[in-house]
Amino acid sequence: MKTYSDFRSDTVTRPTEKMRKAMAEAEVGDDVLGDDPTVQSLETLAAEMTGKEAALFVPSGTMGNSISIKVWTRELDEVIVEERAHLYNMESTHMTFIARVSPRPLPSNRGAMDPEEVERNIRKPSVHIPRTSLICLENTHNNWSGALVPMENLKAIRDIADKHDIKIHFDGARVFNACHASGISIKEYAAIGDSLMFCLSKGLSAPVGSIINGPKDFIEYARRVRKALGGGMRQVGILAAAGIVALTEMVDRLKEDHTRAKRLASAIAEMPGITLNPDHIDTNIIIFDFNHPRYSIPDFLDALKARGVLALATRGGIRFVTHKDIEDEDIDKAVSVFRALLL
Ligand SMILES: Cc1ncc(COP(=O)(O)O)c(C=O)c1O
Repeated sequence: MKTYSDFRSDTVTRPTEKMRKAMAEAEVGDDVLGDDPTVQSLETLAAEMTGKEAALFVPSGTMGNSISIKVWTRELDEVIVEERAHLYNMESTHMTFIARVSPRPLPSNRGAMDPEEVERNIRKPSVHIPRTSLICLENTHNNWSGALVPMENLKAIRDIADKHDIKIHFDGARVFNACHASGISIKEYAAIGDSLMFCLSKGLSAPVGSIINGPKDFIEYARRVRKALGGGMRQVGILAAAGIVALTEMVDRLKEDHTRAKRLASAIAEMPGITLNPDHIDTNIIIFDFNHPRYSIPDFLDALKARGVLALATRGGIRFVTHKDIEDEDIDKAVSVFRALLL
């Protein structure tokens, strides 16, 4: 029995045995010099899966997003983002720090921005006004409790981007969760974005890494930006090998995480202090408001931890995430701890 059931994030997953073996046996070279065959295999695989011309292995989702925004924009530009987007709220302001463009955050219905409002906020440049050059989309949407953003909404925003000749960057850190929740293919989601970033190191359980997918000239410039940011890596086939296992063997099991998240959400939704609609749990992230007479949020998290359950505070609420290393017994344990503390 493990000491902690760790629901803090799907980034806490340990690599599988197959990943460790693939890493130990990976054929490597100097990737900055273009010599690493395992990185090349991973990038080719990602481009084939997404239907994009090319792909680039980067150390993190944050670097993937920051590079993409840098490549698609120039100074004095503005970027439309959803107001709870991870890349706007939780990536240390790279939009202003690296790309040096300003964000224009818009509200949404659980991650889905109103296409008409997006269009109204597209700005033509003048001496006073920035040019809108990019729209960023996120799906599934982390800070909206892993919400699945409907395809019709994404398509409507794509149409508007095309009408105004604006690019779309798709933060698909958990796009494979979206695929499972909607039954829509990765290629269809990828077609919404001019670029698509996805993470290997979340539910797919690789220890490190994300991939940016896009047109060839975009990826060529992205490679230069990655180097400038210090993200050029040498014998990194060791990490890419785990990424190949993530893409070929770990995608299908994500649906188990969704089932467990739903089960946990349904079991705790009616408990005192918790405001949670289990129908809003589309994938593997549960965020609920917490307001209990006996516990503040930090006190409740401490009480959970003392009983072997780890979770995180977020936006005035609490966040639980299911992933490969959360099994049915972890859900049972969490539910019985909630009962003991709250009922
Ligand atoms: C939606 C989304 N985008 C990007 C990232 C950034 O990924 P990383 O932690 O690898 O930098 C995260 C991380 O949780 C995320 O949830």
